[in-house]
Amino acid sequence: MITQPVAGKFKAFSSSCTHQGCALSTVSGGTANCPCHGSQFRIEDGSVATGPAPSPLRPKAIRVVCDSIHLA
Ligand code: FES
Repeated sequence: MITQPVAGKFKAFSSSCTHQGCALSTVSGGTANCPCHGSQFRIEDGSVATGPAPSPLRPKAIRVVCDSIHLA
């Protein structure tokens, strides 16, 4: 999952919820949201905004080349 919390600044995280592994399904209001049990993760740093997820999303290294984003 790639987020852009500030224009021109990109972050990437695993899209698997740290609760029971469901795929995050939406991004809205500054959080990435899990449809299974309602966990929410902040798009700035992947930290937990709302549980039951016990830990942040795992970050992924990326590099931006021109107008493309690649896993590093
Ligand atoms: S698997 Fe995401 S909240 Fe339970």
